[in-house]
Amino acid sequence: MPKKIFSGVQPTGNLHLGNYLGAIKNFVDLNNDNQNKCIFCVVDLHAITVKQDKDQLKNNILETAATFIASGIDPSKSIIFNQSKVTAHAEASWMLSCIAPMGWLNRMTQFKEKAGKDKEKASVGLYIYPILMASDILLYDATHVPVGEDQKQHLELTRDIAQKFNKDFNCNDFLKVPEPLIKKNFSRIMSLKDGLKKMSKSDPSDLSRINLTDTKDEIINKIKKAKTDSFPIPNEEHKLKDRPEAENLLGIYSSILNQNLDKSLDEFGGKNFSDLKRDLAEILCNKISPISDEIKRLINEKEYLDEVLIQGASKAEEIAAKKIKEMKKLIGF
Ligand code: TYM
Repeated sequence: MPKKIFSGVQPTGNLHLGNYLGAIKNFVDLNNDNQNKCIFCVVDLHAITVKQDKDQLKNNILETAATFIASGIDPSKSIIFNQSKVTAHAEASWMLSCIAPMGWLNRMTQFKEKAGKDKEKASVGLYIYPILMASDILLYDATHVPVGEDQKQHLELTRDIAQKFNKDFNCNDFLKVPEPLIKKNFSRIMSLKDGLKKMSKSDPSDLSRINLTDTKDEIINKIKKAKTDSFPIPNEEHKLKDRPEAENLLGIYSSILNQNLDKSLDEFGGKNFSDLKRDLAEILCNKISPISDEIKRLINEKEYLDEVLIQGASKAEEIAAKKIKEMKKLIGF
């Protein structure tokens, strides 16, 4: 069975190594398999769940599309579009909001993290954001959804919502229950400054992450300044317990080279962090710098990027419009 792939990335700037290794690198592999039908979405409706600057948002939408293409997604093979261009996302989101119980949403840990201490001030959009995410996926009958580990709970909610809709409207497998594609290893890249915190675009310290637009010098400097502990690198996986920084740096190294952790432990076991940092900086420069250069080149080709998004939206619209029509019929509209 060919896989139908759907995934999304928020255009909120500072796309980083976590986004790349947790998600975009896998998008590229899926795009390269000719059996798959892939849709990659710049989820701009998700971005406005927190306040955005209008001009910045416009640029970030283009930069996210540029990042997809610069990383290796081919727009003639995969659909690349931005969510706000296809109105079915917002419509489906409302309909699914009316069948998803509040209890399910109350369990979402990411809302609790993002809303922070003052939950009362968070937007309603931020609270129901996982329902919009479910709509994205379910509108396209996606069979597989490649994401980083932090999206696992949202994927489980999507599956529950699909099943509840099918039951409530007595329509068997009308909404397809998708499978998450989360890499067993390296699906949660941690901050370079704190191995217990996820690498994130909202971290105030730029030294905590490698941005996909960083220069070679910035990458080398950030790896040099990355937090470590004072012991040599272990040679067995179980010895990484309670050594989150060592685990993270070795994980990044392994993921970039597509090799398993054991091989990296063989290479660096017993050595000092300076050896690992030197080699890690080198392979990161080799992998990320060409992507960074290509993003910077593409961002000046606004007409080309606009055209990719327009073409993508027109293909996405065709699929989503059909599904939303059937959904409305089932509901009784
Ligand atoms: P977003 O924009 O926060 O992140 C985009 C993708 O990057 C992954 N990611 C990470 N992976 C590993 N380590 C990290 N430190 C790290 N940080 C981010 C995320 O898991 C994600 O896969 N709600 C989603 C976007 C979305 C979506 C969808 C995804 C909207 N609709 C439909 C899949 C399907 C989000 O905010 O991702």
